Amino acid sequence: MCSIRPVGGAVMSGKIPYPRIVVTPPGPKARELIRGDESYVSRSMVRWYPLAAESGSGSIVRDVDGNEYIDFNSGLAVLNVGHCHPRVVSAITGQAKRLLHYSYTDFYYQPIVDLGAELVKITPGAFAKRVFFCNSGAEAVEAAMKMSKWHTRNSLFLAYTGAFHGRTLGAVSLTASKLVQRRHFFPLLPGVTHVPYPYCYRCPFHLTYPECGLWCVDFIDEEVLSKYVPPEDVAAMFVEPIQGEGGYVVPPDDYFPRLRRILDKYNIIMIDDEIQSGVGRTGKWYAIEHFNVVPDAVCLAKAIGSGLPIGALVSKDELMDWEAGSHASTFGGNPVACAAGLAVIETIREERLLENATKQGAHLANRLKEMQRKYPILGDVRGKGLMIGAELVKDPDTKQPAAELAQEVMTKCFKRGLAIITSGRSTMRFAPPLVISRELLDTGLDVFEGVVKELAGSVR
Ligand SMILES: Cc1ncc(COP(=O)(O)O)c(C=O)c1O
Repeated sequence: MCSIRPVGGAVMSGKIPYPRIVVTPPGPKARELIRGDESYVSRSMVRWYPLAAESGSGSIVRDVDGNEYIDFNSGLAVLNVGHCHPRVVSAITGQAKRLLHYSYTDFYYQPIVDLGAELVKITPGAFAKRVFFCNSGAEAVEAAMKMSKWHTRNSLFLAYTGAFHGRTLGAVSLTASKLVQRRHFFPLLPGVTHVPYPYCYRCPFHLTYPECGLWCVDFIDEEVLSKYVPPEDVAAMFVEPIQGEGGYVVPPDDYFPRLRRILDKYNIIMIDDEIQSGVGRTGKWYAIEHFNVVPDAVCLAKAIGSGLPIGALVSKDELMDWEAGSHASTFGGNPVACAAGLAVIETIREERLLENATKQGAHLANRLKEMQRKYPILGDVRGKGLMIGAELVKDPDTKQPAAELAQEVMTKCFKRGLAIITSGRSTMRFAPPLVISRELLDTGLDVFEGVVKELAGSVR
């Protein structure tokens, strides 16, 4: 159960009482819980450190032993409006009392129509759109793959190295961020070609932006689509406007406009995966808006349900011409999850959270850049809004990733009351709730800086 307290993201007067470590984590209750988990839960989960969550409010997550952490994870970019936002909780409980379920694959109900209308409104593109509802990010990606195949009758896909689009068999065929996600699962879906992501800090072509002339995007046209992937056989290209699991990697401003021109030239559908970067995280509803590019379809999940399972594919109307019965999901667009989604959108609007993400995000990036000048282990700082990565390296000249150090930073931050994890090989990901106050952000950053300062000396 969420505990609703009048704190969390709210600005407190005087000293902030967070973080609050009352027993060295993991405390006795957390250890007990973890013993149960180790007995009964699948071994395939990644556990970064022993945080056993009990409740949350705003930007604070509390463990079962009463420790309170500043949450820079947002439950993996899900809690954009903060833990247990009262408006979301009230929408969920209100809907739960009226109608819990009535399979939208076969029947009708109002919340799905209302959320569909809102998603159409906030999604870029001055054209008619439709929404397919499902339960998760991977399912939204699966829907996008099947829709593109159905519409084009083509079977090939383009995706990026470093991409993460989910773990179901179709989605994991597009995913290419870590071997562990693919090992022993072959054969995957045939026909997926991965092209290099514009990761300028570690350019796959060993070139430097802007002198490179954006060869990585021309490579797609001049090599991939001209020599070994016939464009007329391609169903779609999947893009993350900011790579999430790949390491919070941000392409240069002119990258996506040029990519869009190439895709238009060959009539290839552009699917924008905003599952991690969407719903206001970067200070705009969708990260792709920073690049002034309009995709043909967008995949959403995570933050739109604020913790309830929901995914959505928002697409150009004309692409959703698949016939009745060709794709559906029993629980997709569940009325309670839709009520949560509507409350999330309303909260972002009414509390001006896009503005707060932009404002606090700029402060976060500035503080990390200041730290970068002091501590050479911070090799690169990048991101937009409250989706910021700080890449840890052993040496700023060799740029060798410091994966063990990153693990140590995470663990020490956790013990001191800051919940933060990595992405990619050694990038610390800063993704606090969009409701976060300057005071909590600064306090969290002070914890992070204290740990970095302590460990910077131990790096050779
Ligand atoms: C960009 C992106 N796409 C897809 C997914 C898969 O979402 P889910 O875990 O809900 O299946 C994720 C999850 O982290 C993601 O970050």
